[in-house]
Amino acid sequence: MITRRTFLERLNRLAAGLFLQNSRIPKKLLTSSQALDPSKLTHYVDPLPIPEVIRSIGQRSSPEHASTKLPFYRVTMRELHTKVHRDLPPTRVWGFNNSSPGPIFETRSGEGLLVEWVNQLPNHHFLPIDHNLHGAEADKPEVRSVIHLHGGRTPPESDGWPESWFVPGRSAICHYPNRQDSALLFYHDHTMGINRLNIYAGLQGLFIIRDAVEEKLNLPKGAYEIPLLLYDRFLRTDGQLEYPVSANPKAPWVPEVYSNCMLANGKLFPYLDVEPRKYRLRIMNGSNGRFFRISIDKGLDLHQIGSDQGLLSAPVTTKRVLLAPAERVDIIVDFSGHAAEDLLLQSDSFEILQFRVAAKTTSPDTGTLPQSLRPLSRISESQAIKTRRLTLDENKDMVQASMGMLLNNTPWHMPTTEMPVINTTEIWELVNLTEDAHPIHLHLVRFQLLDRRSFDTFLYQDKGELRFTGPPRPAPPTEAGWKDTIRADSGEVTRIIVPFEGYTGRYVWHCHLLEHEDNEMMRPFEVVSA
Ligand code: C2O
Ligand code: CU
Ligand code: CU
Repeated sequence: MITRRTFLERLNRLAAGLFLQNSRIPKKLLTSSQALDPSKLTHYVDPLPIPEVIRSIGQRSSPEHASTKLPFYRVTMRELHTKVHRDLPPTRVWGFNNSSPGPIFETRSGEGLLVEWVNQLPNHHFLPIDHNLHGAEADKPEVRSVIHLHGGRTPPESDGWPESWFVPGRSAICHYPNRQDSALLFYHDHTMGINRLNIYAGLQGLFIIRDAVEEKLNLPKGAYEIPLLLYDRFLRTDGQLEYPVSANPKAPWVPEVYSNCMLANGKLFPYLDVEPRKYRLRIMNGSNGRFFRISIDKGLDLHQIGSDQGLLSAPVTTKRVLLAPAERVDIIVDFSGHAAEDLLLQSDSFEILQFRVAAKTTSPDTGTLPQSLRPLSRISESQAIKTRRLTLDENKDMVQASMGMLLNNTPWHMPTTEMPVINTTEIWELVNLTEDAHPIHLHLVRFQLLDRRSFDTFLYQDKGELRFTGPPRPAPPTEAGWKDTIRADSGEVTRIIVPFEGYTGRYVWHCHLLEHEDNEMMRPFEVVSA
């Protein structure tokens, strides 16, 4: 448990702002001669890479009906060397087929597919494993992998259970039925205890589901629809990835990673040639720990049309978008008022990407920004048959002197406590007792944010009593659509309403700050039959 004294200590730090952009445990930092200072690199000399769309290599029988044939893909995880910037030597990364981030899947709602994920990674990890973490003990193979499709309504055996990892030389075939609305999903490693390292090494990629509702809207498409997978990394002057470690070589885990190099589709300071017309930007935050606050300079309007699980009911116009790790945002921007100018996509003071707007369009801009998108009914609270109160906790002594994060003060391996019944709706109250904002993700389902409300954390710690200190704040329009990852802010109760649909079986829910997830802010849940 967290004592009242440590809580008071934390109050001071809370004053520093909503998100702590540093770690609580002393890190062995790079000496300044080894650490890359990105501001010294020439900006905007490399074009933004757009990951290629992967093609199937044949057809195979669906595990649901042998007579149904599904497109079959094979994706190989391997070590690659990739140019992050023109003036840096190639960086060692782990990617899928020939790239990191991996190739993009493009599919349609209801069109299932099969993927064989092949592990051809080397036998040794190049990032610092902490053997104290559950699932990463010294008797486990160093290199292990299992892939999860984030946001997918996927049967449990294909969902990437964290302990179903496989070693180099092995593979696993997963079935993604894709019976869900159009949305930008992503696939990534989910291996127990080393997930943060595998993703930091590069094991993630985008997965797009389309449907007829979206197509009728005539949104900008083709060359005018840009996928943007953004993440931060520490780089050394020799171009190599550095993952920070604690001061204790026997327990290198650090609670948070906020790095200084912002990569867009794997490039540092890329540029993108655009025309003075509307574009659709599909942005995802693939950072281990960093929250992005995205804007485009010269005050460009961002017309948000979608979030994690697809389209909003109507566009929301804003200047800045907050994106926690694993959250996605779908926005329309209009460069037509900025012909022959350069614009910057940035996060706070970090420059990420330069748009070079041409003097004129090559063809008329026929894409639209519709007034309404997808009808969306808000789920009423009366539909919930159960409310669960679940705490987000920090636990100081869990791993020797270092710190563990927990859900409901319960480690991963304890028996499953959340067992919702299929086709019922529940309210989950996420009671955040820590000083951090945590992006909480549930596998399998989509949900809606009900509200956020501040409460007296001291009283809750001392007596387990929930006393609110302010009124509930309903979901803002930008978060009023279907979500699969929700920011639970410090000292607040975040309430979500969740229809448990799709499949029975065991899944996981967790914090998507990857350092927290690995230690061990992750719990199973099981959808059971009625
Ligand atoms: Cu991005 Cu457990 O997922
Ligand atoms: Cu997921
Ligand atoms: Cu967390």
